Amino acid sequence: MDPALGDAAPFAGDSGAGRLVGTTSDDVERAAEAALRPKRLEEFVGQPVVREQLSLMLRAAVARGSAPDHVLLSGPPGLGKTTLAMIIAAEIGSNLRITSGPAIQHAGDLAAVLSSLEEGEVLFIDEIHRLARPAEELLYSAMEDFRVDIIVGKGPGASAIPLALPPFTVVGATTRSGLLPAPLRDRFGFTGHMDFYSAEELEQVILRSSSLLGTGIGPDAAAEIAGRSRGTPRVANRLLRRVRDWAQVRGDGTLDLHAAQSALRVYEVDAIGLDRLDRSVLTALCRRFGGGPVGLTTLAATVGEESDTVETVAEPYLVREGLIARTPRGRVATLAAWEHLGIAPPQASGVAARQGGETVSTRATTDTLFDA
Ligand SMILES: Nc1ncnc2c1ncn2[C@@H]1O[C@H](COP(=O)(O)OP(=O)(O)OP(=O)(O)O)[C@@H](O)[C@H]1O
Ligand SMILES: [Mg+2]
Repeated sequence: MDPALGDAAPFAGDSGAGRLVGTTSDDVERAAEAALRPKRLEEFVGQPVVREQLSLMLRAAVARGSAPDHVLLSGPPGLGKTTLAMIIAAEIGSNLRITSGPAIQHAGDLAAVLSSLEEGEVLFIDEIHRLARPAEELLYSAMEDFRVDIIVGKGPGASAIPLALPPFTVVGATTRSGLLPAPLRDRFGFTGHMDFYSAEELEQVILRSSSLLGTGIGPDAAAEIAGRSRGTPRVANRLLRRVRDWAQVRGDGTLDLHAAQSALRVYEVDAIGLDRLDRSVLTALCRRFGGGPVGLTTLAATVGEESDTVETVAEPYLVREGLIARTPRGRVATLAAWEHLGIAPPQASGVAARQGGETVSTRATTDTLFDA
């Protein structure tokens, strides 16, 4: 789900920013994002564990003069998976080729991409969990033995011509690592799990971005934006741009605390950074379903979103903030959710206590009523 890539061609070439066609507001956002991407590992803020592990692996590979092991990056949207893929290529001084699961419809599409790779190149496969099955199987032998079988002809007369590939590195990105089949997951020599960023880390991201944008920013304004960026650098950068807009149009151009608070009010970002989707999920869970448990599909339908979007975009942060819990019987609002919405939990509902997402509700009836 990378806004910088889209589902366009099976092969988006080696430009990090994707292609700009026309000038929709999406394109403007993409271009703005591309301009703010860190280019090297040392510029990459946060994720200290992944950064150190990657750094070791890449330096060792460079010293040996060989292609690094395949890398899988997993985590919620906007945490820097695409950015890291680009950094990996830059750190080993090689070319990055970009494609994505949804862009590869047939095994043949992937074979074409693989057979055009040159030695040492990095092949970035975004949303790798969405690869079609036959393409996935082709990838197994390509990753393990650097070989693909090209099928020539059809039916009983078809034959497989083995094609040797030069050594290369696959970097796969996924927001749903649970959906990756084990044989594919096992072929990655390194898996980096990206976690939400702390407020301090986001503050650094904001300071870096504002200096790249050429707008100064007060430390208290940076802290205010950081605290409301739902742990996500993409959101931090986006809010920074909105604050800059506000300062330019309604203020005197200065990015101070007043500008930050006013802009965030206009854009309906609440005190803990929940956006409209987060809040509608939370509100539906509490108001419509009495706090749950309620099934994901039902909840998503209620807020008019795809289950996938609710599960990968809104839920991870709500769980991490201890506002909702996943239980075997469905999603449950914690006490903190009711408090955040400023409504009283129903009496005797056995509302789950806030326990970092590990909670189980004792409410017994709602799932039979609502969970389809
Ligand atoms: N560690 C970081 N330091 C500074 N900026 C970052 C960092 N991680 C991400 N960003 C910024 O956030 C934006 C989004 O990051 P990126 O596109 O890499 O996310 P992603 O994990 O690929 O998201 P998606 O799952 O939606 O594809 C980038 O444009 C970049 O500017
Ligand atoms: Mg991405």
